[in-house]
Amino acid sequence: MANPIIKSLTFITLILTHSLAVAQQHEAGTLPPPRKLTQEQTKVASANYQKYCALCHGADRQGHVNDHAPSLRSKSLFESGVPHAILRPMSYGRVDTAMGGYLDEVGGPMTLDETWDLTYWLFEQAGVERLRLSTNPVHGDITKGEQVYQKNCSSCHGVKGEGVNAPALGNQSALAHNTDEFIRHAIQNGRQNTPMLAFKDKLSGDDINNITAFLRSKASGWKAEKTILRALPTPENYVINKNGDDPNFTLQDNMYVSSKDLYAALQANKRMVLLDTRVTSVWQTAHIEGSIPFPYYADLDETVAGIPKDVQIIAYCSCPRAAADHTIDKLRARGYTRTAVLWEGVFGWMNLGYPVTRGDIEGVSD
Ligand code: HEC
Ligand code: HEC
Repeated sequence: MANPIIKSLTFITLILTHSLAVAQQHEAGTLPPPRKLTQEQTKVASANYQKYCALCHGADRQGHVNDHAPSLRSKSLFESGVPHAILRPMSYGRVDTAMGGYLDEVGGPMTLDETWDLTYWLFEQAGVERLRLSTNPVHGDITKGEQVYQKNCSSCHGVKGEGVNAPALGNQSALAHNTDEFIRHAIQNGRQNTPMLAFKDKLSGDDINNITAFLRSKASGWKAEKTILRALPTPENYVINKNGDDPNFTLQDNMYVSSKDLYAALQANKRMVLLDTRVTSVWQTAHIEGSIPFPYYADLDETVAGIPKDVQIIAYCSCPRAAADHTIDKLRARGYTRTAVLWEGVFGWMNLGYPVTRGDIEGVSD
């Protein structure tokens, strides 16, 4: 039996040592290392990474493999990235970009525990010391910030922050999740081994504050909408216009069909299967009517059953073609020859004014 006095003394000593450690860390401006994963968690997280993320972020987390998916190993991201800077985009995605949400709650394939473990796994792999950044707002002159932004940043990030070949800095979900200091840290230090240079030697501290304030001024208070998950289509509904004629597409590079031709075929009630190859959460929020969720990471042996071989299959994604190309290559290898990919991707389709159907989102009515 432990003596209660010794027990409380040990407890007090523990608290004191802990506070001292925290105080020291605070002084040094660093955070304790992230939670350590067990061997099993590491195995699952690493497999989940390869299955779900490598397509765009690269097998080595180097980024920029498809679309402009950022590096998931740069020093500055992980030293400034509180877990949420990784966890949230992974869970909820970045609205209107190729980054969809992977959390089951929004229709994605991972549980909350899995998204946390993958977050910690990414921190572990990056292996950098985490900095304690202030959460206070960064103040600056928005008008001046816009001028400096247009001159130095818009060529990659877009005149409106929409992202040209770099992340969309004006993106509402990114701005809702990233603090001012996180943004400023990226501008100052760049992202190692990516096209994003460190601007701390090129621009004054004031200019960097001004740009940060300008970017913040674009935020509109986005929050994740609650998706009411739709039931997934069953095999008897896979083929659209079962009794219609087959379409006769002329494919570019033996692979691609244009939005114009696909729309015309749909209007003419042609017989087809449409595969939405994105992460299933984004099928839940918006998809081309009649398409079935057929994510790039699906186990083909399970998903392909129910799709006849003689029907015209068209796959689409938003990146704008990577996930669909990947799926069609695998289907062709299995003898599905009447196959094609939508050239413009689903965002291109929408930008051209063609319709998508929206999933049911709480509080939003059409
Ligand atoms: C040559 C193209 C280029 C220019 C110019 C450029 N950036 Fe970037 N920027 C990138 C790329 C690419 C990334 C993503 C890097 C990565 O992590 O892989 C990035 C990342 C960032 C990020 C981090 C975003 C996030 O969510 O993690 C911020 C913030 C940023 N840039 C701000 C700026 C600002 C402000 C300027 C102008 C002062 C600027 N950039 C100029 C290409 C550029
Ligand atoms: C279809 C391509 C694609 C896939 C697959 C994908 N991502 Fe992304 N991801 C992107 C793009 C594009 C962005 C940048 C969006 C923007 O802000 O413009 C991004 C951004 C991110 C960011 C924010 C990084 C930063 O610098 O702020 C994180 C974190 C992230 N992805 C994690 C993941 C994880 C984890 C997975 C797998 C579970 C994954 N992504 C799968 C395309 C993808």
